[in-house]
Amino acid sequence: MQFSSIFLTLLAATAVAAKGHNGTTKAVTDKSLCKQMAKLQDTVDLAANTTKLDAKLKNNATKIADFEAKASAAATTLQTMQSNTTLVSTCAVIAAANKVADTCDNMKEIEKNMALAANTTKLDSKFKGNATKIAEFQAKVSAQATKLDTLNSNATLTSACSAISASAAAKKAAKASATSSSSTASSTAKSGAAIIDAKTGGVLSLVVMAVAGTLML
Ligand SMILES: *[C@@H]1O[C@H](CO)[C@@H](O)[C@H](O)[C@H]1NC(C)=O
Ligand SMILES: *[C@@H]1O[C@H](CO)[C@@H](O)[C@H](O)[C@H]1NC(C)=O
Ligand SMILES: *[C@@H]1O[C@H](CO)[C@@H](O)[C@H](O)[C@H]1NC(C)=O
Ligand SMILES: *[C@@H]1O[C@H](CO)[C@@H](O)[C@H](O)[C@H]1NC(C)=O
Ligand SMILES: *[C@@H]1O[C@H](CO)[C@@H](O)[C@H](O)[C@H]1NC(C)=O
Ligand SMILES: *[C@@H]1O[C@H](CO)[C@@H](O)[C@H](O)[C@H]1NC(C)=O
Ligand SMILES: *[C@@H]1O[C@H](CO)[C@@H](O)[C@H](O)[C@H]1NC(C)=O
Repeated sequence: MQFSSIFLTLLAATAVAAKGHNGTTKAVTDKSLCKQMAKLQDTVDLAANTTKLDAKLKNNATKIADFEAKASAAATTLQTMQSNTTLVSTCAVIAAANKVADTCDNMKEIEKNMALAANTTKLDSKFKGNATKIAEFQAKVSAQATKLDTLNSNATLTSACSAISASAAAKKAAKASATSSSSTASSTAKSGAAIIDAKTGGVLSLVVMAVAGTLML
């Protein structure tokens, strides 16, 4: 129930289009709104840290005053956007999904490192036979392998990673199919996953389905 309600919220909210200043249209998605909010928050946070701001703007009082004015406007916009609790919770789900996707990438990286650490031929060539460097790398990978075991024991995570991989593969296949027969590249050539991707702006929807339930508990 929770999976589908969040999923439908995402679908419903993503197809809005807004006219740009120059008359062109640019799709407004939850993803883009969340990105905008994160950017506004960064601006507000930076303005609140005078040490950081002074360093970034090299103590130029003019630039600092300009930035503070910009941050003040950003705070107002942010407050308005944050008053939409639906949007705020959708952003939390998207952020969590992004974090999961990052973790999946990290897991793949560890697997690659493990294969390298176990292959003496490859190791010798990569580290030019330097035994110290090889030992250091193997120690690092050994620690990573322990972490990977823990991550792999999390079924929610591994199924989300599978969903991401499957979606990426479907997207690639749909693209290849569309390219190979451009004249018949109708919607039927696209997989369901690819259509979902097009509407939600990424593989996030699948991950959202996989993780939303956990988050909402
Ligand atoms: C029109 O504006 C949008 C955003 O407002 C911008 O991305 C796009 O490049 C602009 N197009 C032209 C032709 O200036
Ligand atoms: C401000 O930024 C500095 C430098 O990046 C950082 O060390 C410090 O923790 C920040 N202060 C606050 C209150 O966040
Ligand atoms: C400070 O920034 C302003 C605006 O960018 C620039 O015109 C001015 O030359 C800068 N002042 C110094 C001392 O660098
Ligand atoms: C709140 O945000 C959602 C998701 O972007 C959107 O569908 C809805 O129209 C917004 N509500 C208001 C009152 O702006
Ligand atoms: C080790 O790497 C080499 C070079 O990439 C490759 O040819 C070989 O099959 C690998 N050995 C094993 C056991 O995977
Ligand atoms: C091997 O790598 C270590 C650590 O980076 C370095 O200190 C050492 O000089 C290298 N040895 C050789 C023979 O290049
Ligand atoms: C399993 O992974 C999910 C998604 O990353 C996370 O939300 C959850 O906290 C993890 N569970 C445990 C027991 O670590």
